[in-house]
Amino acid sequence: MSEPLVLGIESSCDETGVGIVRGTELLANAVASSVEQHVRFGGVVPEVASRAHVEAMVPTLEQAYAEAGVRVQDVDAIAVTCGPGLTGALLVGVAAAKALALAHDKPLYGVNHLVAHVAVDQLEHGRLDERVGALLVSGGHTEILLVDDITRDVTMLGSTIDDAAGEAFDKVARLLGLPYPGGPHIDREARAGDSEAIAFPRGLSRARDLEKHRFDFSFSGLKSAVARHVQHEQRMGRPFSVPDLAASFQDAVCDVLTRKTIEACQAHGLDTLVVGGGVAANGRLRALIEERADVAGLTVRVPRPGLCTDNGAMVAALGAEVVRRGLPPSSLDLPADSSMPVTQVVAA
Ligand code: KG4
Ligand code: ZN
Repeated sequence: MSEPLVLGIESSCDETGVGIVRGTELLANAVASSVEQHVRFGGVVPEVASRAHVEAMVPTLEQAYAEAGVRVQDVDAIAVTCGPGLTGALLVGVAAAKALALAHDKPLYGVNHLVAHVAVDQLEHGRLDERVGALLVSGGHTEILLVDDITRDVTMLGSTIDDAAGEAFDKVARLLGLPYPGGPHIDREARAGDSEAIAFPRGLSRARDLEKHRFDFSFSGLKSAVARHVQHEQRMGRPFSVPDLAASFQDAVCDVLTRKTIEACQAHGLDTLVVGGGVAANGRLRALIEERADVAGLTVRVPRPGLCTDNGAMVAALGAEVVRRGLPPSSLDLPADSSMPVTQVVAA
């Protein structure tokens, strides 16, 4: 069979994404974001995001068809994020995908958003081998994964026990007076800062913590340490340097993420590591993982920043792999599952 032509729909948070791929080839990646509507609230307002998806869905679909020069009638299958994410937001994408599948008699695949963040790298660096490690770093999740088969066998080796890495970036940005979402702003500020200016804690890195949490993360203590530092400087009447704070915080996050992930890959005998999710767009994380993977003799694959943050192409990429491998489609009454576990790649 030639490579499947798949339409992917993403609506789990504040991006309405529609991607079209043929196998591992990217044909279209249309994204509409409602982020501007959430900025003044300092975080995504679910109701506002859902309404924005309803308005953006059809124009974003049309943009993707035009970009790819493809009609919906031509596709082999429709893939949609059915979890995890905000329920109301997910429902818009799932309902749209069901309508298209029904109207055009196409198989429907409800896929896992987190696994799609890993699968998207196939569009950038070609098909993934079996048995690779993955670091998934997004606004809601931070996990080290063992991916034996991207379509049906994903195991979690470790995860955050409190805040996700992206959440930590967003909360610290707020403390520093930077807008939502904070990750890109901290990334930018940090470039002019000294990452050794302030020694921030590395969560779950002491010998005692490592016994139980070798491959787990914790970022809430780091966030509190930044808050204490800011309050202390303010009490002393000293202006604090946003670039130094941003760089020191960013380094604390990236140090632990890269160290534990590489250790996990080594402990499981893996020689390839994929990094995905919005935080994988971070300049320091990308540089440090390359540097440390190189020393460890690991091949590291990180998609370009535009494919790391939420988009429809990642959903289409995972969908195409699932179709290529001949897995059965999901049921037309598939639900949106806000807490879909990363171990479930495709909905029944
Ligand atoms: O994967 P994603 O787009 O959405 C979720 O599935 O959550 O990730 C969004 C998260 C946000 O917390 C955002 O601040 C963070 O990714 N992010 C970044 C960067 N770009 C986005 N964090 C650090 N550096 C960046 N350049
Ligand atoms: Zn995401």
